[in-house]
Amino acid sequence: MLIARAQDLPAVRMENGASQLMVHGQPFLVLGGELGNSSAGTAAQADSILPRLAQLHFNTVLAPVAWDQIEPVEGQFDFSIVDHWIAVARQQHLHLVLLWFGSWKNAFSEYAPAWVLSDTRRFPREISAEGLPLEILSPLGEQTAACDSRAFAALMRHVHDEDATDETVLMVQVENEIGFLGPGGRDRSAEANRLFQGPVPAELSCSLAAHRSELPQGIAAAFNPAATSWPAMFGSAADEVFMAWYYGRFVSQVVEAGKKEYALPMYMNAQLPAPFERAGEYPSGGPYPATQPVYRAAAPEVDFYAPDIYWPDFEQWVERYQAEGNPVFVPEARLDAATSNALYTLGEARGFGFSPFAVDSLPVADAPGPIGPRLADVYEALGKMSGLILQAQEKGAIRALVLHESSPRPTRTLALGGFLFRASLSRSWPARNLETADGAMMVMEAAPHEFYVLGSGLSVTFLRDPDVDNQQAGIASIEEGWYGDGRWVTERRLNGDQSDQGRELLMDPHAFHVYRVKLYTYGGENLNR
Ligand code: DGJ
Repeated sequence: MLIARAQDLPAVRMENGASQLMVHGQPFLVLGGELGNSSAGTAAQADSILPRLAQLHFNTVLAPVAWDQIEPVEGQFDFSIVDHWIAVARQQHLHLVLLWFGSWKNAFSEYAPAWVLSDTRRFPREISAEGLPLEILSPLGEQTAACDSRAFAALMRHVHDEDATDETVLMVQVENEIGFLGPGGRDRSAEANRLFQGPVPAELSCSLAAHRSELPQGIAAAFNPAATSWPAMFGSAADEVFMAWYYGRFVSQVVEAGKKEYALPMYMNAQLPAPFERAGEYPSGGPYPATQPVYRAAAPEVDFYAPDIYWPDFEQWVERYQAEGNPVFVPEARLDAATSNALYTLGEARGFGFSPFAVDSLPVADAPGPIGPRLADVYEALGKMSGLILQAQEKGAIRALVLHESSPRPTRTLALGGFLFRASLSRSWPARNLETADGAMMVMEAAPHEFYVLGSGLSVTFLRDPDVDNQQAGIASIEEGWYGDGRWVTERRLNGDQSDQGRELLMDPHAFHVYRVKLYTYGGENLNR
């Protein structure tokens, strides 16, 4: 059996405001993609999907591992499919993040084995407000927690034995988008009702009271530490807090069992509420910003919580999870907005990874596709520049912004290295019609007055940052090219009409490029002298 030394294990940490995933002791940028739900159920699918994703410049694939496939008969484990995925990923120089579809996947329990689902006495279901059993296992089921934990521990032991030296598998997501779905937002089984009428466990109330000043709004407003019962302590949030606590306790047991075997970073993902949805319309008690303090008390073994962001307010959701102290990793996001959101996640939020959903549906690299920046091109450039990006993240020398036709303002500005970068969506010349509905850029300071700008769909003007001095800024040069093997290669120098006579960086409206921009300053007086 191979023994992994603790200091070699992948680990997640925060470094000077940057989220980092350490792999073999070095920070690693996850240029990821999650597979569709039915894309990793056979070994053969690995042979067709993984080489294609490697060709599309992904470096990490998030792949489900289903409980019903690894333990079809109680106590008998079959890891042949997982083994093949790990072997093919390794051949393709890809990493994997395994998604443990155990007792819950999108609230429901479809991935639990039939021997679990058919025995509702041993593995109780949640009960709806109408008194009907749901196709959702109850987190109060002691045998359910024991069996899910046993299967997960067996998986982690196996991955350890197969992979602890190579570290092809970087992290594990435990369960998927958990929470109670149904009116009322709480399990109404006799056991749940009994516990709900009883006192709130002291571990929870004491932990919340100790962190009272930091509680997020959703829970702070409801929390009454002097009360003892769930309804009295949490008011209208009681049903959801109750579910969060018991889901958290269940997952804590699973994670603890898994980490005893192989302590990879383990995180939970969340199906985010839509505006005006109520608990139970979205999975009630999932790991949301408002329930974070409950999860931290219930499941301290979970390394972090991550949002699956399909809503348009991508940036706000990243910020809400960040504000709760989570390192930034987006395990699922819309594929059609991936190019912009990847730049935002890695550049502005200084996250360690981004992973849109259903990436196995992408066409092969050279297939004709819709006009627009292609994720493969973005990932290729980010991969070549990952060393620079990781350093810039740690130094705080990286920013990013995204603009849409529907953005509230037509321009957005970011400040970096003594300059302001003012961006607006690309327009045609001379008609000035919008040429794209979306634009995004990541900006990195390479040296004083020298920047790499990665993106598409924007026109950018440069101003001296008035907080630094009262000089003015000019463009010394703009080059389009690429960075690789530690050096910059210029393909085109942009000037004349292509730089608006030296006044703007005019990014390609439809294709992703890397630009190197050198700026100069003139006039003014240094206010800092
Ligand atoms: C979020 C889930 O986590 C995924 O497994 C998938 O079901 C997507 N939603 C949407 O299809």
